Amino acid sequence: LNNGLGGTPQMGWNSWNFFACDINETVIKETADALISTGLADLGYVYVNIDDCWSAPERNSEGQLVPDPETFPSGIKALADYIHGKGLKLGIYSDAGAFTCQVRPGSLYHESDDAKLFASWGVDYLKYDNCYNLGIPPKKRYPPMQNALNETGRTIFYSLCEWGVDDPALWAGTVGNSWRTTDDINDSWVSMTTIADLNDKWASYAGPGGWNDPDMLEVGNGGMTYQEYRSHFSIWALMKAPLLIGCDVRNMTAESYELLTNKEVIAVNQDSLGVQGRKVQSSGEGGCLQVWAGPLSGHRLAVVLWNRCSKAATITAQWGALGLESSTSVSIRDLWQHKEIAGDAVSSFGARVDSHDCNMYIFTPQTISRSEI
Ligand code: DGJ
Repeated sequence: LNNGLGGTPQMGWNSWNFFACDINETVIKETADALISTGLADLGYVYVNIDDCWSAPERNSEGQLVPDPETFPSGIKALADYIHGKGLKLGIYSDAGAFTCQVRPGSLYHESDDAKLFASWGVDYLKYDNCYNLGIPPKKRYPPMQNALNETGRTIFYSLCEWGVDDPALWAGTVGNSWRTTDDINDSWVSMTTIADLNDKWASYAGPGGWNDPDMLEVGNGGMTYQEYRSHFSIWALMKAPLLIGCDVRNMTAESYELLTNKEVIAVNQDSLGVQGRKVQSSGEGGCLQVWAGPLSGHRLAVVLWNRCSKAATITAQWGALGLESSTSVSIRDLWQHKEIAGDAVSSFGARVDSHDCNMYIFTPQTISRSEI
């Protein structure tokens, strides 16, 4: 969507994966504080996004949405002021249906009123869900909110959450800044890998202003191993997915922190070229030894060797799969070891990768082939 936002995938935090409905204004404020004190905000994680359950069960007598008086007694405007005071941005959630998924009032047929209200509160981001949609096609329900947001005069990031049901990559590029391509993620290896494969299909439709959204990060929530979370974070970064942290950032382990703060991996996600990396090679049983790659600015490539098999193995990326001439000499930096690999590589590069782990690199072509000299 050409609204000036989403030049690179959005980064921040969202309440749903860890807190679900158990949210309140104190949690949101403490999360904002933690994004600052941990340094996550300085790395780009600036959106603080409240998901479902912030609103009271009914609209007021004027038909307006009301923050739940028990959990958000100070209101959303006060929260936005607090968050803006820290240099962060506030996201809110509604639904393109009669109700949200947790049965709070939805915004269908209230788009203009609700968009105005969000803008008056100083909201910077809207996630727009798909429950209780009355069977009306997404293409009819998502554009009205885009228009309503546009008419407020406030620039608001618009995140479509229709779960990939109507192939949004094909039509949402002019409607929103990102669109979910799949059903909800859960905190498991099977869910994460399945979603990565589903999202891969739409790679060519992503770019600055509009991104495929394979759902929020589960890093730090406990259901996957350190290696699996490394794979999750690396592949989401490579796929130019939104990097929305979904754990309790007030209580992160050192391992979760190390994964989420890898500047070199974040830089791949935020690269100015904005091309989604994809699966380019697979071998082994069921194709579980994989190479995922994509171009970066400056003629560089981001490359992930991903071992989805149950045993450690060597994965060898072939230049042909990466779109390189086999004679091209490439210098390689390891983004998890934070060091250069000694000696340039020609025609292929292989490395040992633990089960369910990945290695991630930047390849910088050093030479042109002899015939071109
Ligand atoms: C479904 C969405 O896909 C989730 O991300 C979350 O927003 C829940 N609804 C909230 O009810």
